[in-house]
Parts: sequence; structure tokens; C-alpha cells
Amino acid sequence: MSNDTLLVRKDDLHATRLHGADEPRLGDGQVRVRIERFALTSNNITYAAFGEAMSYWQFFPSGEEGWGIVPVWGFATVSQSLHPGVAVGERLYGYFPMAASAVLTPERLSPERFTDAAPHRSALPAVYNQYVRCSADPLYTPDTEDLQALLRPLFITSWLIDDFLADNDFFGARRVILSSASSKTAYGKAFCIAQRRGGESAVEVVGLTSPANLAFTRGLGCYDQVLGYDELTTLPASTPVVYVDFSGSAALRESIHTHWSDELRYSCSVGGTHWDELGGGKGLAGPRPVLFFAPAQIKKRMADWGPGGLQQRLADAWKAFMRAVGNAEQPWLHVVRQRGRAAIESTYAELLGGASKPSDGHVLSV
Ligand SMILES: NC(=O)c1ccc[n+]([C@@H]2O[C@H](COP(=O)([O-])OP(=O)(O)OC[C@H]3O[C@@H](n4cnc5c(N)ncnc54)[C@H](OP(=O)(O)O)[C@@H]3O)[C@@H](O)[C@H]2O)c1
Repeated sequence: MSNDTLLVRKDDLHATRLHGADEPRLGDGQVRVRIERFALTSNNITYAAFGEAMSYWQFFPSGEEGWGIVPVWGFATVSQSLHPGVAVGERLYGYFPMAASAVLTPERLSPERFTDAAPHRSALPAVYNQYVRCSADPLYTPDTEDLQALLRPLFITSWLIDDFLADNDFFGARRVILSSASSKTAYGKAFCIAQRRGGESAVEVVGLTSPANLAFTRGLGCYDQVLGYDELTTLPASTPVVYVDFSGSAALRESIHTHWSDELRYSCSVGGTHWDELGGGKGLAGPRPVLFFAPAQIKKRMADWGPGGLQQRLADAWKAFMRAVGNAEQPWLHVVRQRGRAAIESTYAELLGGASKPSDGHVLSV
């Protein structure tokens, strides 16, 4: 059977092509999975933009010189198994290629998860190599697969950043500024901050966004204030702030570091939605931007709370977030479900060009 896969030119992210290759034969201990749905958001575009620098191209090598496969989060079913511990028909959640199928080599199996032990993935961050077994996953429900594919990897990051900042008493700031405020990861973070309203560690959250996304972002109701990028200097420079950067825009970062030069308490780099405006942090006023490293906070909280304590807190936060996102009066997300090459290519191009509506959540299959 042919495994159709979307390839992206590594040196020109606008160039894509569908590649059909025969599915490889399974070796002993391997399983084949059918990738039945995956989400596509700016997060995946960032994987491509940092494909070389952060090894994202290495998860699913295309075998075609100069072409890469963008990893996506989604759901798959085991269609063939030569592994005694993994049955045909099992449902999995995890990191997949933009393809119809994939071959995994399960190792370190538990009832909840296993690791893909493919040699080319062994040096890559462990968090991406784990596959969650849906039958034993407390967050799984079959009717929320689309929302899970779209939001789960993003919200875990939102929650961990929030926890990291709270754990450090927001570095003495009482206002947090988020760029790309209309993005799912940013509004997940704003949601977590909003949950603290009225409490002892309450801080204000301000979102910065582009003019087209102002109304949507304000409508979410989780920001104390939403401003256009060009309005940021209307905020008082005398109030201590933390900057959490989802945009990666070098020019925006410089404006923020300059405006709050003395009162910027922490500058946290999380993303690169403005992937064509990326730049270094050299010569900036104020603190050096620090790349957020989620595994470090996970490790700390595992030690503080134990794996069960961390899972429980995350599960509680996730359920509250799901209620807000799916609220009947004004859902934050409209799932757009599509199949096939044309849909994948056009969605990818829309996201690359920043033309996707923030209210749309794209769920695709080959
Ligand atoms: N480090 C981590 O572990 C981690 C984990 C999850 C996510 N992230 C990062 O968080 C960021 C947000 O990801 P997401 O999936 O939540 O995004 P998303 O929901 O798809 O975000 C869409 C928003 O991003 C901005 N945007 C998208 N494409 C753009 C373009 N080409 N040019 C300018 N702006 C563009 C726009 O926001 P505005 O108009 O508001 O600017 C747009 O509304 C990504 O960079 C992602 O990599 C990092």
C-alpha cells in the first residue's frame, strides 16, 4: 500500500509536495499505525521554521534530499502488529508525520504509554517519542479527539509556563504581557492566569495581537486587556512586567525590552508564530530572553508533587480549560475537519502566511 506523505522543502517552507512511497515491511517488534486525524496550527509551522536548529526534521526523515516532514500531534490506530504487547485496533495519541501511516518500534511499555525506540529518535527529546495508549488515558474521551489533537500539546505548555512563573512569584511583576495573544497557546496561558483572579498570586494579563485579531482575542474574556502591537507603549513603563513571547518577532521583543528597560523582570521565549521576523536577543536592554524549557519544569514538579500529583493538577486545569473553550454560548474554537492533499496543502499555506482565522482549529487526515 502507498503511504502518502506531505513533504516541505527545508530551505523554502512555501514549497510542498505529496510523496507516495510503498509502506515498508514491518520488522520484529514493530507496529504500523494508520494516522486518522492530526491538528495543524502555527506550532507545526514553528517546528518547520526551527527544523534544522532544533532537530524537528529528524523525527520523521523523508529520505528525499532537501525535503522534510513536519511533525504533527494526533490520533492513530494500530493496523498491523509484530509486537506481542500492542494489539491491532489499539488507539494511540502522539507525535506523527503528516502521512497516512507510520511504523513505530514500541519499547518501555506500560498500560498508559510506550516509547518509540527507533534508533534515529533515540537522541531526540523523550517527550516527543512517547505514545499515549488511549484506553488508559484519564484525559481521553472519543468525542473530544479533535480538541485533544488541537489543544493538548499546546495547553500543557501554557500551563507549565504559568506554573513556572507562579513558582517564581512572577519575578516580582504583577503584569504579564503575551504576544500572539490570539494563538491557542497564548490564550491557554491567559486562561491559567485568569484562574488566579481574586487570589493571593493574582497578576494582570495583557495580550498583544494584530489588528485583525483584536475582536476575537477580546471576546475570549481571559485577558484583562488586549492591545494591538502598535499600542504597547501606551502601557506604563513604570509597572514591573514579565514578557512571554509566542511571536518570536525580533522587532517586537526589542520594543518591549526598550520600553520596560528597568522594569522588565523576566523575558521568556516560547514560540515563533512570526517565523519570518525571528532574530537573536543580542544587545537588548533589560534581562536576556530565556527559552522556556518545559521538561525542566516537569522534572521539578515531579519531584515536588510526584507523578500523580502533577498529573492530577494538569488534568484538573485541562478540564476547566475544555469547559471554557467549548462553552455553549461562545465556543472559542470552531473545528474545521478536512481530508486529502489539497486541504492539507491549503491549510499549511494559510498558517504559513498568517491567514488562518484564530477561531478555526484545523484537523486533517491524508
Ligand atoms: N516551546 C514549546 O514547547 C511550545 C509549545 C506549544 C506552542 N509553542 C509556540 O507557541 C506559538 C503559538 O502556537 P499555536 O499553535 O498556539 O498557534 P495558533 O493558535 O495557530 O496561532 C495563530 C496566531 O499566531 C499568529 N500568527 C500565525 N501565523 C502567523 C504569521 N505567519 N505571521 C504572523 N503571525 C502569525 C496570529 O496571532 P497574532 O495576530 O495574535 O499575532 C495567529 O492568530 C507557536 O510559535 C508555537 O511554536 C511552543
